[in-house]
Amino acid sequence: MENIESILNQALHEFSALEDPVELEQAKARYLGKSGSVTELLKGLGKLDPGDRREQGARINRVKEAIESALSARREAIQEAKLEKQLAMEALDVTLPGRGSGMGGLHPVTKTLERVQSIFHSIGFTSVSGPEIETDFYNFTALNIPEDHPARAMHDTFYVDADHLLRTHTSPIQIHYMMDHEPPVKIIAPGRVYRVDSDATHSPMFHQIEGLWVDEHVSFTHLKGVVSDFLQRFFEREKLKVRFRPSFFPFTEPSAEIDMGCVFCEGQGCRVCSHTGWLEVGGCGMVHPNVLKHVGFDTEKYLGFAFGMGLDRLAMLRYGVNDLRLFFTNDLRFLKQFE
Ligand code: PHE
Repeated sequence: MENIESILNQALHEFSALEDPVELEQAKARYLGKSGSVTELLKGLGKLDPGDRREQGARINRVKEAIESALSARREAIQEAKLEKQLAMEALDVTLPGRGSGMGGLHPVTKTLERVQSIFHSIGFTSVSGPEIETDFYNFTALNIPEDHPARAMHDTFYVDADHLLRTHTSPIQIHYMMDHEPPVKIIAPGRVYRVDSDATHSPMFHQIEGLWVDEHVSFTHLKGVVSDFLQRFFEREKLKVRFRPSFFPFTEPSAEIDMGCVFCEGQGCRVCSHTGWLEVGGCGMVHPNVLKHVGFDTEKYLGFAFGMGLDRLAMLRYGVNDLRLFFTNDLRFLKQFE
């Protein structure tokens, strides 16, 4: 019975050193459990004289209560410490600078289109558009490419059904526009075009931009001036050489291929220009009278020129991109460089 106070001291000492709730409950059992030291003392009370029993019983109960309250205090303290630790771990430093939300950017082809348009708008051309699914008439016949004309084979066409196809060039937009408008006509028409073709410089879908100027005194000289001026401004090279190489398109006569001096080697010859010093950027010519007749224009009064250029090609040359497919695979590592 003498050791009852030392049991209390021992318990208090033991509890205060414990950090783990399970260990704390195990320690509790050693004092207050079925065969705990305090319980054993209580069991022994029966052997005492009634007088002693009362006094000792009260002592033991005081100790038991003290142990119980020490236990619950320790339980709370452990719980609180645990919570504090968790809060510290989850703490947010609200004064840290934000990570920022990544900004998107315009696609390089869109940027190129905007640049091309702003140059042509500045010299009086208006932008128009047309459908990507065309009939044979708009894509071919009206452009002086009758059925069985070998030029049809040059355009590897995607057919939608017997009467519809994906336009193979932007030239059908000319036809739509001229059917709905009277001269003078001074338009550019950008858009997606489709051909059965796929490698590093060809994609089944690509972009062209069409130009068309029809009026009373439009000549090949105007064509040369407009195209050369455009290329010089687009590539920011005043002295950029532009040449017109005789060629053939059913819808223009005479026709020419547009070449410009290689912007990579300045005409010295390099891999990009296949060591010729020249880069081909499009086709052009004076609108064929048959085309003007198809849309009801007076061919005695009106003349016009048209040109078509590859927009993706212009973007590749301006940005130094060597694989056309990069524009259409949406790899963010590529696109982010144009933000
Ligand atoms: N439509 C032609 C092509 O896609 C390009 C072109 C347009 C040529 C206008 C001459 C005049 O190949």
